[in-house]
Amino acid sequence: MGLINPARRLASFRVQFEKSLVNARMLYELLDTPPRQADVPNAKKPKINKGEIQFDHVNFSYLSGEPVLQDVSFVAKAGQSTALVGPSGGGKSTIIYLLLRFHDLEDGHIRIDGQDISQTKIKSLRQKISYVSQNPVLFEGTVADNIRFGRPGASQEEIEAAAKLAQAHDFILEMHNGYETEVGELGSNLSGGQRQRLSIARAILRNAPILLLDEATSALDNDSEQLVQAALDGLMKNRTTLVIAHRLSTIQNADTIIVIDKGRIAETGDHSTLMNSDDSTYAKLHNIGSRSATRKRPPAKKIQPHHLLLD
Ligand SMILES: Nc1ncnc2c1ncn2[C@@H]1O[C@H](COP(=O)(O)OP(=O)(O)OP(=O)(O)O)[C@@H](O)[C@H]1O
Ligand SMILES: [Mg+2]
Repeated sequence: MGLINPARRLASFRVQFEKSLVNARMLYELLDTPPRQADVPNAKKPKINKGEIQFDHVNFSYLSGEPVLQDVSFVAKAGQSTALVGPSGGGKSTIIYLLLRFHDLEDGHIRIDGQDISQTKIKSLRQKISYVSQNPVLFEGTVADNIRFGRPGASQEEIEAAAKLAQAHDFILEMHNGYETEVGELGSNLSGGQRQRLSIARAILRNAPILLLDEATSALDNDSEQLVQAALDGLMKNRTTLVIAHRLSTIQNADTIIVIDKGRIAETGDHSTLMNSDDSTYAKLHNIGSRSATRKRPPAKKIQPHHLLLD
């Protein structure tokens, strides 16, 4: 029971969290809880320069006997964008969770710039990573506070520069109090696209060498989609990006596309190579419509409070 109750509380907390806005202090308390995965003795701070990510024969399952990732090996090159695409439940988000060390591997290694992440300090590892989740979360406080959360201590100029890159500056200035507008007052007045752009601004401010992006699947109107794409382009520049891509524009612009199907890598290549190869899963996904192909998901077996545990 000692284990189940905290997990339940966390799960119900997440639900509240997504529905409403939560007191920022509660959030900090949560972030300050020790990471679930313990550091190994003598764990080192990772030295990350370029940020090349390597999965080396990774096997993983949440429940024993039900493999979720099987023999997954790939390299996400430094400074480039690598898109993960594929049918729902294939294991794309799990790949991101393993990089953030929310779970330990069953087998294999994940390395960043050659360093096995299982031997690094989790906290330092996560400081090198920006993670934009599928459901952007806003906190009680001002719009500026919400962006500053990416890097506490950032100046007003830095916050505004990040918001500009994220295509958020203009709509922020239209708010009655600009950057000092209380997000609580806005309630649900912010559109999905605006929320996403605020969370992208937060990630830009964080300025970590590695970016993990779980693209939102919720439909955006055309204008919003273009603005979000422009924001993402700003964020992805010169960063090693692993993006779970649902938008055609993100997929086509990716340097490398990895198709994940039933826990395995089915195909790797760029858009035109994959489109032109015979019988490719990618071409089939593409023809179904890449937006809907990855969107439907079965009901989750467990609620994953992961994105609350980032720092
Ligand atoms: N916490 C968990 N406990 C048990 N099983 C889980 C858990 N999280 C995910 N799974 C299972 O692992 C498999 C891979 O899930 P994952 O979320 O990585 O897929 P995905 O490719 O991201 O799917 P989607 O495109 O729908 O987001 C699925 O079968 C899923 O049900
Ligand atoms: Mg997913």
